[in-house]
Amino acid sequence: MFGIHVRPSWWLPERAATEEKIHLDRRRLLRSFGIGAGLLLGRNAASLAPLLPGEGERRTGIPRRKNPDYRAVGRPLTPERLAATYNNFYEFTTDKRQVHMLAGDFRVEPWEVEFAGLFEHEGRYSVRDLEALVPPEERVYRFRCVEAWSMVVPWTGLPLGDLLRRLGLRREARFLRFVTVSRPEAMPGMKALPSYPWPYFEALRIDEALHPLTLLATGIYGKALPPQNGAPVRLVVPWKYGLKNIKSIVRIEATRKRPPTLWNRLQPAEYSWLSNVEPWKPHPRWSQATERRLDTGERIPTLPYNGYAAEVGSLYRD
Ligand code: MTE
Repeated sequence: MFGIHVRPSWWLPERAATEEKIHLDRRRLLRSFGIGAGLLLGRNAASLAPLLPGEGERRTGIPRRKNPDYRAVGRPLTPERLAATYNNFYEFTTDKRQVHMLAGDFRVEPWEVEFAGLFEHEGRYSVRDLEALVPPEERVYRFRCVEAWSMVVPWTGLPLGDLLRRLGLRREARFLRFVTVSRPEAMPGMKALPSYPWPYFEALRIDEALHPLTLLATGIYGKALPPQNGAPVRLVVPWKYGLKNIKSIVRIEATRKRPPTLWNRLQPAEYSWLSNVEPWKPHPRWSQATERRLDTGERIPTLPYNGYAAEVGSLYRD
C-alpha cells in the first residue's frame, strides 16, 4: 500500500554488498558534505520510512531549480509523450515505438553506479547519494540522433564535472568510460542481437566530461527518468549525437587510455569515436545537413555542434 514499505527478501545492508574500505570512504565523503545517515543507505533504507512532507524533494529526478541559462533553445519543447514513446534502446528492441512497452516494467531500484579507476573516492553510489553530492537542476537542451531526428527536452541532471570533482577525479585521468546495465533476462533485445558486444559502452575525453554542458541525467520533464529514457541515470552530452548519451549506467571508470565505444567498434566507418554533431560531415548513407523535428515532422537545418558551437567549438579546433 501507498506509504508502507517492507524490506524485500533480497535486501542487504549496503555494507554487506560493498567492500568495507570503499563503504567507509564513501560514508566519510558523504558526511563531509553534510549528508546524513538516511541518505547513506540510499533508496533501500529511505524506502523503509513512510512518505514525509517534502519527500518529493528527495525523490530522484526532481530538479531543485530550473537553470535560467538553459531555458530557451529557439524551439518549443517536444511533447513529453513523444519523447517517452519514440526511443532508441537496443537492449529492449530496435523498434523505436515498442521500447516503452518492453521497458515499462524494468526494475531500477535498488540501483548503484560504481565509480572506478582514477578517483580518490572510488565506490558504489545510489542515485540518491549522487543527487545529494551535486544538486540536480533542470536544463532544456536540443537532442539530435545520428539518424537525423531531433527533439527539445527538459532534463533534470547533475553537472557531471561537479560530481567528478566531488569524487576526487585524479589528475592523470584522460578519459571516462561508461557502461550500461546488463540484464538479458529482462532486456530481450540483447538476445535478439547476439553479435553485439553487450553491455552497451561509451566514453568521453576528460575535457568533454568536465564541460559544464555535460549532465548525468536522472529526470526528464520534471520527473524521474522512465525506463525507456534510460532510468535511473544516463548521460546527456547535447553537442554529440544521441548514441553517445548512454542509458541506465552502472559503471563509470576514469582511465589513462582511450576506451573503445560500442558503435565505433561495430561500424567505425559510420560512427566516429567523438560523434559530434557536425552537419558538414555526412553519414555514409545519409546527409547530416538537416534533421526531422519529432514534433512537427518539419525538416530544418542541423546546427554545428547541435547549436552549442559557441560553448564547445574550441574543444575541437584541431
Ligand atoms: N544507451 C543504451 N544503453 N542503449 C541504446 O541502444 N541508444 C542511444 C542512446 N543511448 C542507446 C543508448 C541512441 S542511438 C539514442 S538516439 C539515444 O539513446 C535515444 O535516447 P531517448 O530514447 O531517450 O530519446
